[in-house]
Amino acid sequence: MFDYINSKILSRCHSIADLRRAAKRRLPRAVFDYMDGAAEDEVTLYRNQADFGRYELLPHFLVDVGNIDLSVKVLGADLGVPFILAPTGMSRLFHHTGEKSVARAAHKAGTLYSLSSVATTSIEDTARTGAAPKMLQLYVWRDRSILKDFIQRAKASGYTALCLTVDLPQAGQRERDLKNGFTVPPQIRLSNILDTMMRPDWLLDFLTSPRMKLENVLTHTDAAQNLFSVIDYTTRQFDPTLTWDDMAWMIDEWGGPFAIKGILTVDDARRAVETGVSAVILSNHGGRQLDHAPSPISVLPEVADALGDRVEIILDGGVRRGTDVIKALCLGATAVMVGRAYLFGLGAGGEAGVDRALELLSAEIRRNMALLGCPSVQQLGSKYVREIKS
Ligand SMILES: Cc1cc2nc3c(=O)[nH]c(=O)nc-3n(C[C@H](O)[C@H](O)[C@H](O)COP(=O)(O)O)c2cc1C
Repeated sequence: MFDYINSKILSRCHSIADLRRAAKRRLPRAVFDYMDGAAEDEVTLYRNQADFGRYELLPHFLVDVGNIDLSVKVLGADLGVPFILAPTGMSRLFHHTGEKSVARAAHKAGTLYSLSSVATTSIEDTARTGAAPKMLQLYVWRDRSILKDFIQRAKASGYTALCLTVDLPQAGQRERDLKNGFTVPPQIRLSNILDTMMRPDWLLDFLTSPRMKLENVLTHTDAAQNLFSVIDYTTRQFDPTLTWDDMAWMIDEWGGPFAIKGILTVDDARRAVETGVSAVILSNHGGRQLDHAPSPISVLPEVADALGDRVEIILDGGVRRGTDVIKALCLGATAVMVGRAYLFGLGAGGEAGVDRALELLSAEIRRNMALLGCPSVQQLGSKYVREIKS
């Protein structure tokens, strides 16, 4: 019955904002806030989206736009769309099919999925969905043997790229989570219990499916059976002493396409290129780490200018519309990454919801490319975009 209701709800979602509202209705408040929220005053979260509004698109007419080509090549993979799916931990919280649904939906949309190292599905089980291409995201753990193990498992399971997230020397303070008692260990509150009872679809799904585990970290801790101990162990493993030399070692150990995620300055972008990355991901972790860090779209023009064609640039943060993707590509990105855009779909209706999110984004890009008078995303450039003078 819930499947039928969800399919009706999804068919009435015509934008990522609609999917966000649907996810908000289906998920308990604490779970929705964990997905939607960000650090401290959420200034960066707000700017990630709002700064796209600083640019306008300049249409060119009487151009043959009978066929629109959305294909791009990123991290060695030929993709059918110019967006890839960002790594997001603990997806099982939003729907029991979690990362498997996201991987399958990415495959159907012709794009790349990046599995988080704190995923609730293992590296191997995600590979078994048949999704291709796949990227594994790494944090830097104090215990370097965990890193070696992850890299070997990714190789053995046919992952095509690695991505190192560098903006998490420690976790940012997400105050919605603190207010909701969504902490390790969780604070059980009457208000949360009542709120959760009002979401029978989510509750039934959560209670009748296998327990949530951080599958990839399990083998490295004795606390394997207790989720909160594993999360606690994982948090303590983040290494604040990471340096560029460590990354150089990882690039060497992997030997394939390698992206650095979390770059926001020209200096760091240049250093990353010198160290040997294949792609620089401009990102502030969706506003979840350093509040008041700049939005990726605001730093993209200067980074693109400094790096030229030496490396791929992926913009990550605030993308909710096809026009956001088009603006980023005009300003020098090779592709964009989306996080919450597909998570809202997962929270609203599992795999069908992720499918819906990716269909909406693809359709918006295709339609607006035609309206812009540009038949291929590879032809997007400065002539189609202008910063609004204030
Ligand atoms: C619920 C959630 C979990 C996330 N988990 C991870 C993670 O495990 N690793 C990582 O590198 N980034 C993680 N991120 C950040 C995303 O990869 C991405 O940078 C961010 O979502 C981009 O912003 P957007 O949501 O506006 O698209 C997470 C984001 C969210 C919303």
